[in-house]
Formats: sequence, structure tokens, C-alpha cells
Amino acid sequence: MTPRPPIPLALQVNGRWISVTVAQGTPLLAALRAAGLTGTRFGCGEGHCGVCTVLVNGRPVASCTLATEQVGSAEITTIEGLGSADVAGPVQSAFLDHQAAQCGYCINGIIVALTGLLARRPRPDRAEILAWLDERHICRCGAHLRILRAVDALLAGDASPAAGMAGPGQ
Ligand code: FES
Ligand code: FES
Repeated sequence: MTPRPPIPLALQVNGRWISVTVAQGTPLLAALRAAGLTGTRFGCGEGHCGVCTVLVNGRPVASCTLATEQVGSAEITTIEGLGSADVAGPVQSAFLDHQAAQCGYCINGIIVALTGLLARRPRPDRAEILAWLDERHICRCGAHLRILRAVDALLAGDASPAAGMAGPGQ
């Protein structure tokens, strides 16, 4: 069978449009990483571990299982859109303050997912937070208690989690 030619696409990522050229069926994760947005990571590749989580129109999505051409004009937010190395977003700041990671591999996906939760539910209770993370995210280092401490501190403070979503990419 003759392979289909790559298709040029425009994606709306972190508040700006980028151009990508991908083979049909290429996961969004691969397209983002090829475009230099390497904060979104590859783990299981099957939608189970959560390290590749991005927000699509504010909803957490496993970018490893979403074909790039299915994104259309939806707004994609990656970890780079939540802050920068110089100016961390509120969720990132809380994680840094509380050293809420060990190896750190899972953390970008968790920060993106929590940002999505807090944007729709600014004051989630513990059960909602656990349910939100439990159904999508695996931390093999077992940093869960520190992650929850960081979320508790964020919710106890005045920072607005949603404010980080408009931050610059990097
Ligand atoms: S790499 Fe996408 S969910 Fe694991
Ligand atoms: S901090 Fe290592 S997998 Fe979560």
C-alpha cells in the first residue's frame, strides 16, 4: 500500500498558532514534541499513565492517543503554557515550594491535569482531587503525599490556578 503523504496542519497551542506536518494518525504528543514542546512526555503510549496530558479546550486529554488531525482548531495547553522557568505558574510554584516530585517524570502531566481541574472547580475537596488524579495518573516514585501537600498549600493560598494558563510558552 502506498503510504499517505504527510499533511500540514495548524495547531493552536498555548495561545499561538504553530504549523506542523505529520503523517495521518500521528499522535498529538509526537507532533508537539517535534515542534519543540518537549515538556509533554511519553510514557505508556496507551492512555494509561498520564505523563502526556495536555488540556484540549480546558479538558485533560492523553495526547498519546489523540490523532493530531482530530484536534482541529481546539485550544491546546501544554506545560509550557502554564509558566516558564523564570516565572512559574501557581500550580508549578506550589509543586516547587513543596518539592512535590522525586524523579519528576510524571509531574508535568499532573500539573497540567490539576490546572484543568482547578480551572473548573476552584475549591475541589480531597475526594475530588484524588478521583481526578487517580483515574488518569501514575507516579511510580510514590510522591503522592508531597503532591497532595502542594495542592493543599495552593488551595489555602490566594493564587489563582487558572491565571497560569495564559502564561508564555517556552
Ligand atoms: S504516554 Fe500517554 S497516557 Fe501514558
Ligand atoms: S515523581 Fe517519579 S514518577 Fe512521579
